[in-house]
Amino acid sequence: MKNYDVVIIGSGPGGYVSAIRCAQLGFTVAIIEKYNTLGGTCLNVGCIPSKALLDSSEHFHNATHTFSEHGIEVKEVKANITQMIKRKDDVVSQTCDGVKYLMDKNKIDVHQGIGSFKDQHTITITGENGSAEIFGKHIIIATGSKPNFFPGMEPDKKRIITSTEALKLSEIPKKLLVIGAGVIGLELGSVYKRLGTEVEVIEFAPTLLPTMDGTISKEFTKILKKDGFKFHMEHRVQGVVNKGKSVVVTALNKKNEKVEIEGDYCLVAVGRKAYTAGLALENVGLIANQRGQIEVNEHLQTSIPHIYAIGDVVRGAMLAHKAEEEGVFVAETIAGQKPHINYNLIPGVVYTWPEVANVGKTEEELTAAGIEIKVGSFPIKALGRARASMDTAGLVKIIADKNTDEILGVHMIAPRAADLIMEAVTAMEFRASAEDLVRICHPHPTYSEAIKEAAMAATDARAMHI
Ligand code: FAD
Ligand code: NAI
Repeated sequence: MKNYDVVIIGSGPGGYVSAIRCAQLGFTVAIIEKYNTLGGTCLNVGCIPSKALLDSSEHFHNATHTFSEHGIEVKEVKANITQMIKRKDDVVSQTCDGVKYLMDKNKIDVHQGIGSFKDQHTITITGENGSAEIFGKHIIIATGSKPNFFPGMEPDKKRIITSTEALKLSEIPKKLLVIGAGVIGLELGSVYKRLGTEVEVIEFAPTLLPTMDGTISKEFTKILKKDGFKFHMEHRVQGVVNKGKSVVVTALNKKNEKVEIEGDYCLVAVGRKAYTAGLALENVGLIANQRGQIEVNEHLQTSIPHIYAIGDVVRGAMLAHKAEEEGVFVAETIAGQKPHINYNLIPGVVYTWPEVANVGKTEEELTAAGIEIKVGSFPIKALGRARASMDTAGLVKIIADKNTDEILGVHMIAPRAADLIMEAVTAMEFRASAEDLVRICHPHPTYSEAIKEAAMAATDARAMHI
């Protein structure tokens, strides 16, 4: 039986990043992945393929909606979904191959198969070529998550689909129903909306992206409605039926009336659940909690100190960059270092167009906590850069402590908000004040000027360009 300092189960962004950091720190490392490709949900059926299709569909949308105003005449623009999916698959396989390269470069042993606990140090790997056992002095569980669903909306993966199938449809739906106005519903809804699909979203809560700052959620709803999204808010889904060539969602509206909505596909996007099947946790006395997650302490240790768990399989945001941070954290903890993760400063992004991004607390959270705040916001349409690119929707909102001026939350809808938010994350990591942002020279013309202007608006209402 081969012995390793660290054995990692799962090769998503949590697992593979942890493996690299462990190897950098001088440990012998094995990583176990049940699929043939490395990279987990993120690379195979999550972040990367969804962004590839978002980019392709955005090009198509621009060709059909904004090119003529830019003075570019194109005849007969057609969306070729087969080619779009093929390009997406190429992007995925190049990225997954990149992880394999990184494993080899860092001398990390990759084992294909399902990893399960035989005892507290022995992992059985059951793969295509039989089974084997390896020993780990330390073990990191990084088995991620799977799509969730509720009774009555079980995906049949044909017409009642999850994000995984939505990333490989062979046709552009005429009408796509989406259950859940969360990140997946709005991102993948956007892909098909831009390709000409009618998109209707059925949501249980009164607002979309319910955990977002209220101003952003309201503004974002307006933008999406203007783009043609149709929302059925406060609807409780009772069932979804595949009728062969169509699918019907039955829901109860706010007044408790039965509503039937028909489309050709229904994307079920009501969250994801931690994945522990196959691990045989019972063999080591670990139990998943009611939400299916593995319980960990502040060091990401399970109740067995040398067994750690990270990423989507534990509490917290289900985000690739959160999983990566935790992977590094555990590697450095095992090495005896004292790493730190600031969970308050994990940015969130929705990759629609414009993009939505946030970091820190929302106005609602701060108000509920009784913290005195001041708020400044600035509309994207007031930027010269935005008019030049014809991307005028959105705003930047900065919330600072009324007494100390420390920035407590930054929320934005803006072109490239996913990249812009990093200025706020960096500033907040160094506990900057809104005045600090005002005093930093921002290049002109850029979208980043909206951050400076929002900071000016928060400090003595002195924004200049509105
Ligand atoms: P995962 O990536 O889920 O990896 C877990 C791996 O473990 C899998 O490869 C699985 O096969 C393997 N595994 C499980 N059990 C075993 C076992 N017993 N033995 C061996 N292997 C096993 N996040 C972002 O931050 N940005 C985005 O833009 C983004 N977009 C997304 C889009 C979609 C459509 C989806 C579905 C998710 C998206 N996410 C995004 C979320 C992101 O993918 C996850 O948060 C991230 O992948 C979690 O990483 P992880 O390492 O914890 O687990
Ligand atoms: P989500 O938690 O973002 O949204 C789920 C939505 O479904 C919520 O609005 C919720 O109120 C609604 N809902 C729940 N039950 C319902 C019901 N019975 N009927 C109608 N609506 C219902 O989950 P989503 O979109 O599935 O994404 C899963 C995870 O993947 C998220 O936690 C997210 O962090 C991650 N992800 C991240 C992305 C990013 O960072 N850009 C992109 C895609 C996914």
